[in-house]
Amino acid sequence: MATAPNRKDDHLRIAAGPGVTHDRGPGLDAVRLRHRALPGRDLADVELAIRLLDRDLAAPLLISAMTGGTPHAAVINARLATAATERGLGFVLGSGRPLLADPGLLPTYRSPARPPLLLANLGAVGLTAERATQLVDLLGADGLSIHLNPLQEAVQPEGEPHFADVRDRIAAVVAALAPLPVVVKEVGFGMDGEDVRELAALGVAAVDVAGSGGTNWALVEGARDARAGEVAAAFGSWGVPTADSLRAAARTAPDVPLLASGGVRDGVDVARCLALGARAAGMARPLLIAAREDRAGDALDLVLRQLRIAVWATGAPSAARMGAGELA
Ligand SMILES: Cc1cc2nc3c(=O)[nH]c(=O)nc-3n(C[C@H](O)[C@H](O)[C@H](O)COP(=O)(O)O)c2cc1C
Repeated sequence: MATAPNRKDDHLRIAAGPGVTHDRGPGLDAVRLRHRALPGRDLADVELAIRLLDRDLAAPLLISAMTGGTPHAAVINARLATAATERGLGFVLGSGRPLLADPGLLPTYRSPARPPLLLANLGAVGLTAERATQLVDLLGADGLSIHLNPLQEAVQPEGEPHFADVRDRIAAVVAALAPLPVVVKEVGFGMDGEDVRELAALGVAAVDVAGSGGTNWALVEGARDARAGEVAAAFGSWGVPTADSLRAAARTAPDVPLLASGGVRDGVDVARCLALGARAAGMARPLLIAAREDRAGDALDLVLRQLRIAVWATGAPSAARMGAGELA
C-alpha cells in the first residue's frame, strides 16, 4: 500500500494508535450463533483444521497483509511469521511494492519462519503479470493477494486512483500465476456483491471482503496529512460492514471461496464469519498492536481458544462444517 519507507513506518505507527477505526463496527455483534447446552462432544474433540488454497492450516485464521520494507517492519514480520508458523496459520505479507523497487529489502519481509500458507501482496493499481510473478518468486510465496484500495488511493496526497483497467490487470495476473492462487481483497471498506461476482468471473481463487468496522484507511491517511484529513473526515462511516459484505458475497458468488476480515476482533467473530459463509477470517490491526509488544503468539492463542469454544458451543463438529445451520 506504500512505496516510500517513511510512509510505511508512518502507517505502522498511526495504524497502531487511536482514531483510525471506522465509526461503526463490522456488524458481527448482531450475528447470533446457536448455543447448544448439549454440544455433543468434548471441547478437545472440536476440529479446527481446514484446507485453504491447497494448504493445510491448523485453524481458519490468517494474519492479514500489513507490512514490509523497513527495519521496524522486519521486526513485526519476523514476530508475526514465527507466531503463524508455530500455530500452523496463514500469513499475508504487506505490499511488495517496495521490495520490487529494491530486492535488497527481502529480509524485511521474509524471516526463517515459514508458515504453512504464505501469500505475497500487491495493489491492483499498476499491477502487471510480470511484477506479480517476480514478487511471488522473490518471496517464495504460495500465491498472491491483490488489494483493492480505491478510497485510500483517492485520499492519499500521493495516491493513484487509476481503477479503469483493474479487472484486466487482475485477469492477466490470474493467468500468469496459475496454478498458484490469486486472492483479491479490499483493505477495510468491504465489497459490493457485484464486485465479488465480477472477481469470481475473473477466476480468482478466493475473495477477502475486508469489510468496514475495523481499521479505516481513509482515517489513517488523514492522520498523515492535514489536507487528506479534511477529505477523510467524511469517510469515517463509509463502506460495507464485514457481516453485510459477506452475506452479499455468499449470495452473488456462491462458488468462490470467501475470506472475511475487517474488524474481526476475537475468536467468536471468527466463528460468526464462518457461519456467514467464510472459509477463514483474517485480522490485521490487533495483531500489529500485539506484535509491537512482542505478544503476537499470545494474541493468536487467545483467538484460537475463543474460536474452539465458540465452534463447540454451537454444536458443530468442526470449523470446516460451520455454516448457516449454526446461526441462531
Ligand atoms: C499497518 C497496516 C498496514 C496494512 N498494509 C496493507 C497492505 O500492504 N496490503 C493490504 O492488502 N492491506 C493492508 N492493510 C489492510 C489489512 O490487511 C486489513 O484489510 C485492514 O486493516 C482491515 O483489517 P483490521 O480491521 O483487522 O485491521 C494494512 C493494515 C494495517 C493495520
